[in-house]
Amino acid sequence: MNKKRIIKETEVFVKKSMIGDPGHDWTHVDRVRKWAMKIGKVEKADLFIVELAALLHDVADYKFHKGDDKLGGHVAVKFLKKFKLNTKILNHIENIVNEVSFKGAGVKYKMKTIEGKVVQDADKLDALGAIGIARTFSFGGKFNVPMYIPKAKPFFHRSFKQYKKLSASTVNHFYEKLLLLKDRMHTKTAKRIAQRRHKFMEQYLKEFYREWKLRS
Ligand code: ADP
Ligand code: NI
Repeated sequence: MNKKRIIKETEVFVKKSMIGDPGHDWTHVDRVRKWAMKIGKVEKADLFIVELAALLHDVADYKFHKGDDKLGGHVAVKFLKKFKLNTKILNHIENIVNEVSFKGAGVKYKMKTIEGKVVQDADKLDALGAIGIARTFSFGGKFNVPMYIPKAKPFFHRSFKQYKKLSASTVNHFYEKLLLLKDRMHTKTAKRIAQRRHKFMEQYLKEFYREWKLRS
């Protein structure tokens, strides 16, 4: 089967598989795919791998599947088997899907290949800025996490196991993840875009605290 058909069929599969909150729906996947393709071109990555991995990166996401962080890669490969792709490609995509997630402030990324780095950067860009903020509150809403608890200090997660527990508040999630991302981007393009989105989130938090204190 040609590559175009494989991508089309993967899109159809992913569209019907996404079961997260409104921040983890098909539109998130599509934005990640589009940024990954843009960045991938600059980085001269294998765009077929990049596109397939981006499309499949949140299929069976552990956050919506009882914390099972190996399920995503497994579901992705099970789906791709019918296209008779070689084992190297399948292993590469499985590895990207399993490694793409943020796993806590104290846990280093293990992404080795340029294709993986490109997809990880594209995914992290969508966690930042105006859309990143919307996605975070959407997630907090789905799991009934309070928006803000002034006394609750952000937590420095040393392991993925610790990080899997929900934040005390959604505002804490900014400090536990979102504000750390600009320094964890791999590619030049993503680093540049992240700077702008980071500044916007800092401004947003300032305004949030101001309103919380009932300042006019
Ligand atoms: P990752 O693989 O890094 O977890 P995803 O694309 O699956 O990335 O989505 C992560 C997004 O989900 C976060 O950027 C945030 O918007 C939301 N999210 C995840 N965990 C939490 C949390 N504990 N509190 C609030 N939002 C969260
Ligand atoms: Ni994602």
